Amino acid sequence: MENMEEKKVLFSAIQPSGILTIGNYLGALKNFKKLQDEYKSIFSLADLHTLTVRQVPADLKKNTYELAALYLACGLDPERSVIFAQSHVPAHAELTWILNTVTYPGELSRMTQFKDKSIKHEDNINMALMDYPVLMAADILLYQTELVPVGEDQKQHLELSRDLAERFNNRFGETFKVPEPYITPSVGRIRSLTEPEKKMSKSDANENGYISINDDKDAIIRKFKRAVTDSDNKIVVSPEKPGITNLINIYSAFTGKNAKETELEFEGKLYGEFKLKVGEAVADVIDPLRLEKNKYLQDKDYLDSVLKRGAETAQYLANKTLRKVYKKVGLLPIARG
Ligand code: TRP
Repeated sequence: MENMEEKKVLFSAIQPSGILTIGNYLGALKNFKKLQDEYKSIFSLADLHTLTVRQVPADLKKNTYELAALYLACGLDPERSVIFAQSHVPAHAELTWILNTVTYPGELSRMTQFKDKSIKHEDNINMALMDYPVLMAADILLYQTELVPVGEDQKQHLELSRDLAERFNNRFGETFKVPEPYITPSVGRIRSLTEPEKKMSKSDANENGYISINDDKDAIIRKFKRAVTDSDNKIVVSPEKPGITNLINIYSAFTGKNAKETELEFEGKLYGEFKLKVGEAVADVIDPLRLEKNKYLQDKDYLDSVLKRGAETAQYLANKTLRKVYKKVGLLPIARG
């Protein structure tokens, strides 16, 4: 925690909504450890967000422990980062209410993710699904966050957080820092192994399409062996070769070699050999990560204690902002004594 004062505040969160893929790993988790070194970092489990689509309660509970264990397995250190469950800090829901008073239904119904999810979950288009980005703004603004690492799909939500912060500040006086996006080093979009035109997704009906954090080495290698490629045997990046391009991107992301180096390494090699090498490179990272995560999972008391400690710090920080907000809008403080 040395030089905490000089470090910028960074906030990130992932939903405990089940299977995470190597896309999630590369896009977010892989960078967490490094971010923890460079910033005053706050990592949340966005469990209230998860409730916006229908959940089996027992699964949500299990998935929340899974994600907490995964954070630790990725190298997050509760001594240095604030690690907590969103629902343990009531200020998130409380600030959402206040921010709702400066948010217009039109700007929420226009959100791409809301529109997509409304199609996907047409039997459960609830108010919280629409309000999702406002809760996300509350997450960010409560900690006077300066930096938010966001992937492409969350950029629009971060933009709304900035708009709400500015709108509130204009109306009630300087209250919130306006957060900036932290551009994650691009890994290229990770695509489905079976339909490389599509993004790799955990909701893919065909589980050969994605590599989950919970796949063991055999499963990983088997899935890569089956990955869709094409009929000419050239291992090069090309828009005409979405399958091979995807495998090159994955190999690069897991080995740190760039696409050119990868092309050279496999020049003249057969697809079968390349696919095996990609599988091994992924398994070399994901297999130990899964085992480490499972070790943490066996000690629920420890996980509980990590989340408790994180919640205490988060509550302290969040309540400072919330009190300011309540005062600005004219809510009466509780009398002392
Ligand atoms: N909505 C994000 C996602 O699904 C998760 C999230 C919730 C988040 N609150 C956040 C991300 C605040 C960044 C900052 O990916």
